[in-house]
Amino acid sequence: MTNDPGRLLIVASNRGPVSYSRAADGSLSARRGGGGLVSGLMSGLGSVAADGGALWLCAALSEADKEAARLAGGTPPAPPGEVPVRMLDIPDDVFDAAYNDVANSVLWFVHHLLFDTPTQPGFGADFRAAWAAYVAYNEAFADALAQECAPGTRILIQDYHLSLAPRLLRDRYPAARIAHFEHTPWAPPEYFQLLPDDVAVAILDGMLGADHAGFLAERWAEAFLNCCETVLDADVVRIRPGSGRVRYRNRVTEVAVHPLGVDVAELRARARQQDVRGNALVLRELARGRQLIVRVDRTELSKNIVRGLAAYRELLVTHPEWRGRVTHLAFAYPSRSSLAEYRAYTARVHELAAEINAEFATPDWEPLILDVKDDYPRSLAACGIADVLLVNPIRDGMNLVAEEGPALSERGCALVLSREAGAAALVGEAALLVNPYDVSETANALHAGLIMPAAERQRRSATIADAAAARAPGRWLAEQVEALG
Ligand code: G6P
Repeated sequence: MTNDPGRLLIVASNRGPVSYSRAADGSLSARRGGGGLVSGLMSGLGSVAADGGALWLCAALSEADKEAARLAGGTPPAPPGEVPVRMLDIPDDVFDAAYNDVANSVLWFVHHLLFDTPTQPGFGADFRAAWAAYVAYNEAFADALAQECAPGTRILIQDYHLSLAPRLLRDRYPAARIAHFEHTPWAPPEYFQLLPDDVAVAILDGMLGADHAGFLAERWAEAFLNCCETVLDADVVRIRPGSGRVRYRNRVTEVAVHPLGVDVAELRARARQQDVRGNALVLRELARGRQLIVRVDRTELSKNIVRGLAAYRELLVTHPEWRGRVTHLAFAYPSRSSLAEYRAYTARVHELAAEINAEFATPDWEPLILDVKDDYPRSLAACGIADVLLVNPIRDGMNLVAEEGPALSERGCALVLSREAGAAALVGEAALLVNPYDVSETANALHAGLIMPAAERQRRSATIADAAAARAPGRWLAEQVEALG
């Protein structure tokens, strides 16, 4: 795999950089995975991995992934210049319970404060069975990682799907150099403690098996340190906001913040390609000279699409002068559709969009174009021509669209950004910051964005693009690798 096993860098995550699907003719084709985790790692690994070789370990997410892994004897060959990927064949029932029933239905909900607490969660026997699968899933990763480890190997374990893996790997290979990185927000102790006590302890203890625990924003790292104190009664030494050391079970874990930016040059080069330009032409045609309010998200409960649409509706009511002069493009990638909450949410988004169009459309104006489809070139094109970009999550680890949008914007766009996104700390006052629950404030910010002078949009977008470029994924990853010594 590498000439120098001691320099090997292993990334472990639930979702890998590619996923396979089977075409009608039976052949397997690979496509890039979605979400901030994959984009950040893909773009960061290129520069960091070069000096010693790297391996990406992930779960096979579909039958086609499993088939691709089988055909290649475990590790499908990487295209030149890309990192080899080893896909673990986890039994379907174990994967389903770990991914859907624990990681996405419980841990994701905890960290994004998504529960409707009068009725949810209820941790009964079903949860216990799913939790056992989550443990087995983490064990499968720990086993595979231990097999790949040599003295000096550095291991970067990603996200809430794998919160137990650092401890489980430490038990199997005590000298391993392990970092864990959490791409989500972290819940404050009083919310984290919704979890059954033993589960709350296991998650924190699992992560403290790492030498280094990284977060995207100070707030999330602080919340983690607070949980270590409250739930584990661990010894926490704070060094500066968001950074500290946790001593627990005779080991010390360093906690630090590594905000994630974007490789602006790479992104802009991608946006210059023909497929993106073609999409931009089509979208401009649709807009017919009107201003564009754009949003690009996964159809994700925490992205707050419903309140975003409500804010657009309020804008059209309180500022009727915009009727016929603005179009809202809402592009959403399908996501986690095996969960009933996500299907219901997507249906609600469609319903509300139809209501808005029914209320305001005229023969020559469609106020809102909503499309739920995975279309990366079209998303880049929409960001490039946006006048106002709306990013209003309830809570978000970082949110790369808030950085990518202004960086891609050709003439400069106004960014309406939730103060609850980790990105708010990075871009600060260059955005129009809003409380994501305040629909009226969001509507006013959309109006402020629409009337913002072109020069100011340009200045603010450039500030955001510079902040994003200064935290490019190569640096983000290198910091974590360096922290492992
Ligand atoms: C977030 C998570 C990632 C996840 C991504 C997409 O960014 O932090 O771990 O991969 O969402 O979600 P999915 O469930 O489709 O992998």
